[in-house]
Amino acid sequence: MIPRLPFVEEFHTFRMNTLTIPLCDDFHVHVRQDDMMKAVVPYLAAGGMSRVLVMPNTTPPITSTAQALAYKEELEAVDPNITYLMTMYLHPDITVEEVHKAADAGIVGIKSYPRGVTTNSDAGIEDYSLYYPLFEAMQERGLVLELHGEIPSDHERDICVLNAEEYFLSHLKQLYTDFPYLRIVLEHITTAAAVAAIREAPETVGATVTAHHLELTVDDWAGQNHNFCKPVAKYPHDRAALREIVAEGHPRVFLGSDSAPHPRNAKEAACGCAGVFTSPLLAAYVADTLESLGCLDRMRSFACEFGADFYGLPRNEGTLTLSKQTCTVPASYGDVVPFRASQKLSWSLCPHS
Ligand code: DOR
Ligand code: ZN
Repeated sequence: MIPRLPFVEEFHTFRMNTLTIPLCDDFHVHVRQDDMMKAVVPYLAAGGMSRVLVMPNTTPPITSTAQALAYKEELEAVDPNITYLMTMYLHPDITVEEVHKAADAGIVGIKSYPRGVTTNSDAGIEDYSLYYPLFEAMQERGLVLELHGEIPSDHERDICVLNAEEYFLSHLKQLYTDFPYLRIVLEHITTAAAVAAIREAPETVGATVTAHHLELTVDDWAGQNHNFCKPVAKYPHDRAALREIVAEGHPRVFLGSDSAPHPRNAKEAACGCAGVFTSPLLAAYVADTLESLGCLDRMRSFACEFGADFYGLPRNEGTLTLSKQTCTVPASYGDVVPFRASQKLSWSLCPHS
């Protein structure tokens, strides 16, 4: 348990009804390509972010340093004020030499998607042992392995979206046992089992938590396409475990929004796409939720400090001020419906200083 420090900002929260913290980090975001990229990238700064870890599940996926750098340039052309931390997609095309090239170029991590479990994951992994030489090189060069922690459904074995994360945890354990110096992030955790696995994992293993998984359970996405994402939100006791580990200020648990925009018609289709869009109001969603949990004082560490520390990056400069004023989430941003559309949040984002 980290002691709660009396920050000056908290005094201001009390006195002025504002919360001033450093600009935030989003250690897991989908910013897409082409017109969708141009539409959503400006919302990163609007949502209080200064630095983001960019997911590589584009079409085609980012499987080389050259592609990652070209993508970064495109993102910088839309908003040069955000720091884009680039990742590649774990894939048989990636060689050990490519890992070294990526490390030299400042690429931060490699993301693993189990095959077929989510958007653009058809090229995902099936067997980690194939990639052990890459993990060796990543460990040596300090690249982080980001894991989408679900295994594919297998009805013969009674595996479906509700227990896919829990079944993945033995793979996590195997990986950190076999690569004791490799930093690994279990992305967007959703279960009490994953929370327990993170608690018992070594210092090299962290986890991201999304704003939406702190709010949702199965009841919120079954029949409600806009709350459907992968991994799906689970039981109330799972959400309680997520809330608890964030509220206690676990230093290896930090914000990764998994904000994943899809056009409205793709979300509302009979077979709707997985993904919840939170970028435009990300810091406000988190503040609203943490306050409702009685732990607004964890906002700074969860959204601005622990992720940077885990990734070995300097903490952000520049400040973000939120004010305790009700805001109504827009019904849509262009063609994309955001999380909690048309609902009220208790915190508003002020223009950045
Ligand atoms: O809900 C999700 N949407 N989960 C993912 O892992 C991918 C993402 C997307 O790219 O749409
Ligand atoms: Zn994602």
